[in-house]
Amino acid sequence: MKYLMNTFSTFAILAIFSLYASCTSEPPKEPTDLTQEVIIPKPVSVTASGGAFTLTETTKIYTQSDGEELDQIARHLSNYLSPATGFDLPVESAGSESDDGHILLQLNDSDTELGEEGYELNITEDALTLAAQQPAGLFRGLQTIRQLLPSGIEKDSLQEMSWKIATGTIRDYPMYEYRGAMLDVARHFFQVDDVKRYIDLIAYYKLNHLHLHLSDDQGWRIEIKSWPKLAEYGGSTQVGGEGGGHYTQEEYTDLVQYAQDRFITIVPEIDMPGHTNAALTSYPELNCSGKAAELYTGIEVGFSTLCTDSEVTYQFVDDVIGELATLTPGPYIHIGGDESHATPMEDYIPFVNRAQEIVLKHGKQVFGWDEIANAELVDNAVVQYWAEAENATKAIEQGGKVIMSPATKTYLDMQYDSTTELGLHWAAYIEVDSAYIWEPTKMVAGVDREHILGIEAPLWSETVTNMDEIEYMAFPRLIGIAEIAWTSPVDRQWEDYRTRLGQHAPYLKALEIDYYASDLVDWKSYE
Ligand code: ACM
Repeated sequence: MKYLMNTFSTFAILAIFSLYASCTSEPPKEPTDLTQEVIIPKPVSVTASGGAFTLTETTKIYTQSDGEELDQIARHLSNYLSPATGFDLPVESAGSESDDGHILLQLNDSDTELGEEGYELNITEDALTLAAQQPAGLFRGLQTIRQLLPSGIEKDSLQEMSWKIATGTIRDYPMYEYRGAMLDVARHFFQVDDVKRYIDLIAYYKLNHLHLHLSDDQGWRIEIKSWPKLAEYGGSTQVGGEGGGHYTQEEYTDLVQYAQDRFITIVPEIDMPGHTNAALTSYPELNCSGKAAELYTGIEVGFSTLCTDSEVTYQFVDDVIGELATLTPGPYIHIGGDESHATPMEDYIPFVNRAQEIVLKHGKQVFGWDEIANAELVDNAVVQYWAEAENATKAIEQGGKVIMSPATKTYLDMQYDSTTELGLHWAAYIEVDSAYIWEPTKMVAGVDREHILGIEAPLWSETVTNMDEIEYMAFPRLIGIAEIAWTSPVDRQWEDYRTRLGQHAPYLKALEIDYYASDLVDWKSYE
């Protein structure tokens, strides 16, 4: 009987254990070496001290120094960690912390090396202290905390597991001040909730700008009260003909605020003087012929142009940019300027010159695709290199700053390989390694670190129609681009990144990201 009981209990333990192993996404993590943790983008420095901090149901989040902004960041942390842990994680003012494993968020003016977005995370067995010079740095640091916890932390239901983080210190700050993604909401329109999810996902990888391509031949996506037919009629369709839509000014304002709460700046683009068919359908007076164009649902480029020598065009540009500038707290208005093949260069240059002046008049900084460097750039213009090295050179010769978006590396709508069903391949096939193995300062001779404001990965939506498809094209390539923008080139090696990306798979799964599981990566199993 005793023998039987023993056999039975051994069997039961084994059965329970195997049931447990098959139900959990990962074995319980007992981290003890902080330097072995996977953090993407890779931080500046990590030192380990050999122990573990445990998040428990009594953990509180303390904020040192009053202020709504710090409280809001602390609440973000609480909201990130509560669903899976089931813990309350209340936010309180510092001063009464006990030694029971609390979290402390503090601003430290004197640590200037951290800059606008850097942070220092000190983890002991008793406390997790996140310090930064600026609130944005604290927010970036929260993303690191999320990645240090087991991947179950990203699930939105209660997970029965222990929540430990290895002890030690992380100091971290970005390489480039502009780290962006672009979403083309013109070729296909995406609802506010999809854009918010994209904002959440890019925030997780410490990006800080979302460029919205708000107008193109196929659709006008932002309500302009002084020219209402732009959105009502020009936004009524999309590629393929079904659907379409636009953001009301209230919805756009809500998106801007949602992004701002995550320390992400929205960069709105109205593409001109080409890529304007949607506007040309809405108002006949914008056409040199005086006749309205027809709605367009195909994917050709380069056939439309505003009438550059008509005064009403400049009234239109002024009104549109004026309304957009009022709605946009960020510094930039993007005026497009790409592929204006239907605008002769002798018309294009004076048009871009005037459009830039209008942006300045409304108190904003000019941003445009690399072709705008053919015009006379105004002070502080930002030129987005995507195709022509010569244009990037012209930009810096005029004192402009460059955003690196080489189509052959950063265009997230390019197919991974010839078997990818979505996407296009006019620039290149871009596998996960190709999107990672490039160096911004080596793309254009003479365009060096001091000329480059940052990196942006655009996702054009000719073939991309919904959030799952956005995720499949963006992930995992955007993660690699985020690392190029954040991490010093000396800390970036493909083999090391490939390993970390594979180990990061359970987090992608927990975040329910529909990523492309490239054969180049050994994805850690999560089931
Ligand atoms: C672009 O891809 N036309 C900027």
